[in-house]
Amino acid sequence: MQPVQPLPFPPLAARAAGLSESEVRALFSVASRPDVVSLAGGMPDVRILPAEHVAEIVARVVRRELGRALQYCGGAGLPETREAAAELMAMEGIHADPGNVLITAGGQQALDTVAKVFLDPGDRVVVEGPSYVGAISAFSAYEPRFLAVGMDDDGMIVEDLAELFAGGVRPKFVYTVPSFSNPAGVTMSYTRRLRLISLCREHGVPIVEDNPYGMLRFEGEPLPTLHSLDPENVVYIGSASKVFAPGFRVGWTTARPGLFERLLVAKEAEDLCSSAFGQLTVAAYVRSEHFAPNLAGYLALYRERRDAMLAALEAHFPEGATWTRPRGGFYVWAGLPDGLDAKALLPEAVERRVAYVPGTAFYPDGRGRDRMRLSFCYPTVGEIHEGVRRLGELLCEQTGEAASEAASA
Ligand SMILES: Cc1ncc(COP(=O)(O)O)c(C=O)c1O
Repeated sequence: MQPVQPLPFPPLAARAAGLSESEVRALFSVASRPDVVSLAGGMPDVRILPAEHVAEIVARVVRRELGRALQYCGGAGLPETREAAAELMAMEGIHADPGNVLITAGGQQALDTVAKVFLDPGDRVVVEGPSYVGAISAFSAYEPRFLAVGMDDDGMIVEDLAELFAGGVRPKFVYTVPSFSNPAGVTMSYTRRLRLISLCREHGVPIVEDNPYGMLRFEGEPLPTLHSLDPENVVYIGSASKVFAPGFRVGWTTARPGLFERLLVAKEAEDLCSSAFGQLTVAAYVRSEHFAPNLAGYLALYRERRDAMLAALEAHFPEGATWTRPRGGFYVWAGLPDGLDAKALLPEAVERRVAYVPGTAFYPDGRGRDRMRLSFCYPTVGEIHEGVRRLGELLCEQTGEAASEAASA
C-alpha cells in the first residue's frame, strides 16, 4: 500500500484569509470552566424561563401544527411569525407591514445578508467604535474597508460622522446599535438620532439599525427607533433572542420595498427558509400570555445584576478605571487605568478564575486594548461580586493600589 501523503492545503478565497476566529469564540471554551466566573458571554439567562411555559408552547405547535412545523416554508418566513415580529416592532414604534418583514436565523443572519446585498470588496462601511463583534465578523467576509466612528455616553458621536461625510467619504451604509449597545451599553441620545437621520438622508447613505436590546430597558423613557424616524432610509434588524430565547434562532429585518426583495433572494440562497418549527414556536410564545410576564422577569433580573455590577465596580476597581452605566441591555464597558492592557491581562485573569472580553474584539482596527466588556446578563449577583472582586484585585496589583477591604477579606 502506498504511504498516504498529507494533502497540501487547498487554496482558499482571499476573503477566507481575512476570517479569523473571533476573540469571543476563543474565550468560550475557557470561560465555560465551572470554576471561572464568566463576565464574557452575552447569553440571555434563559434559566429563568418557566419550563412549563415553553413545554406548553412547544406541545401546542407539535399537536396543532406538526405538518407545517416539520416542513420547508416560504423564504420570507411564516405569516404568523412575520406578523408577530411586526407586533414586537410596533411596541417600539415601528409600523412595519408584515409583508415587508423577512424572518432570519437570528439578527446575525440578517447582518450577513444585509452585508451581502450592499458590500463589494473595498467598499467603505461605517461602524461604531466599539461595535458588535458579530457584525464586524459578518461584514468582514465581504471585504469592506471599515471606518469606526467613536462613541461616548450618548452613543455614536454623529458629528465625527458628519466630518467624514464633509471630507467626501461615502460609505455603503452606517451600522449602529443605538439602544443599550453591545459592547458599550450606551444609548444614542434623541438629538443625535435626529442628526444621524438627517445627515444620512442628506448624503444618501442608508442606516442599518440593529436593535436586539431595545425592549430590555430598566429605566428612563424609550427613545424612538431610527426606523420609526425614517422608515425609507433605515434597514431595521430585530431578534427574539434577548426577549425570549436564542435557541430557536429567530430574528428579522424590515427594509423599504425594492431592497426587501433583494434581501429575500439573498437569504433564500443561504438557507431556503428559517426553521419553521422555531418560527411557529416563537410566534406562539410572543402572542401567548407568557410573553409579557416573562419579559418583566428578565428585566427585573438584569436590572438587579446591572446594579450589582455597578456596585462591585465601585467597590473593587482601582483609581483611574472608568465604566459606563447602562440603562438597559447586557453590558458594561470599562476603561482601564493608564498603561493597562486588557488583552495582555486576560490569561492572568483566567488564571484567577474570571473572564471578560478584551476591548480589541470590538474594533476593526486594533484599538480597544485599554477596554473590556463586562456582561451582567448571565452570572448571578453573587458571581458578579466575586468576578469583579477577582478582576479588581488583579487590576489593583497592576496599578500598585491596595485592593479594597472587601477584596482582601
Ligand atoms: C448587537 C447584536 N446584534 C445581533 C446579535 C445576534 O443575535 P441573534 O442572532 O441571536 O439575534 C447580537 C447577539 O448578541 C447582538 O448583540
